[in-house]
Amino acid sequence: MLITMNWKNKVVLVTGASSGIGEALSVELAKRGAVLGLFARREDLLKQIAAKCETAGGTARVFSGDVIDASAVHVAADELRKEFGHIDIMIANAGMGGNNEATRSYEPEAVKKVVDVNLLGAVNAIHAVVPQMLERGSGHLVAISSLAGVRGLRRSAAYCASKAGMTAFFESVRLDVQEKGVGVTIIQPGFIKTPLTEGRHNQMPFLMELEDAIPHFIRAIERKKKFAAFPWQLAAIVRAGKLMPAWLYDRIAGRVRYRE
Ligand SMILES: NC(=O)c1ccc[n+]([C@@H]2O[C@H](COP(=O)([O-])OP(=O)(O)OC[C@H]3O[C@@H](n4cnc5c(N)ncnc54)[C@H](OP(=O)(O)O)[C@@H]3O)[C@@H](O)[C@H]2O)c1
Repeated sequence: MLITMNWKNKVVLVTGASSGIGEALSVELAKRGAVLGLFARREDLLKQIAAKCETAGGTARVFSGDVIDASAVHVAADELRKEFGHIDIMIANAGMGGNNEATRSYEPEAVKKVVDVNLLGAVNAIHAVVPQMLERGSGHLVAISSLAGVRGLRRSAAYCASKAGMTAFFESVRLDVQEKGVGVTIIQPGFIKTPLTEGRHNQMPFLMELEDAIPHFIRAIERKKKFAAFPWQLAAIVRAGKLMPAWLYDRIAGRVRYRE
């Protein structure tokens, strides 16, 4: 018999909760009775999503801020802990694609912005919860990384670097905390229809609908998987690419264009 996790009253802090994956995941967890801390910059959207979460049967609190601002993430975590006692799960999901002329021409400030949001934003999120989780001897850190972080892709240097860094960072953290009651799940999705991928004209192989992708995220968290990559077809291709020598990878990946 499959035993699913009891989400009732689980306290979950989600960064990047104002749209796409963060929004859909929050509402799904609310349906299961979770307490959500919704963090992102657009407060108006967060308030609407909080209302959806409450209607769905959960409890939600809104924290508007930028993940680059470590103190804003700390305040959100502190307030959530003050009201609900502790945080069970932190989902570091806030992120940006950042694909534009500036990142494509490697302008340092543009690349830095992507790394700041995608990698250091996740570091700020971890830092706001890990000491208390270690003290309690329980907690779960979830990184929404990407299959784009496994090897480099054309015209995606900033994004690939930020996601490769995120994967390596969380894997390292896992080694640090694994015997202290804190779990780490690294999720590497392929392409999912969200505002982040909207408007792209190049082919996105095995593009998933958001509603089809969300159960994969939830399953990975419930099973406390160390890594979860999906859809399986793209994950298999990317894993095969990881094993290729550079000359072969360059020949194949050099022809593929996922981004304009
Ligand atoms: N969609 C895909 O195909 C795909 C595939 C693999 C991985 N991912 C990853 O999944 C995560 C969510 O992406 P998505 O597809 O759901 O995109 P999305 O709909 O654009 O959502 C991005 C979320 O991140 C928040 N965010 C961005 N910059 C932020 C900042 N500086 N501070 C706080 N929050 C910030 C946004 O909120 P505000 O603008 O309100 O701040 C928004 O809630 C990202 O990390 C992305 O890299 C997506």
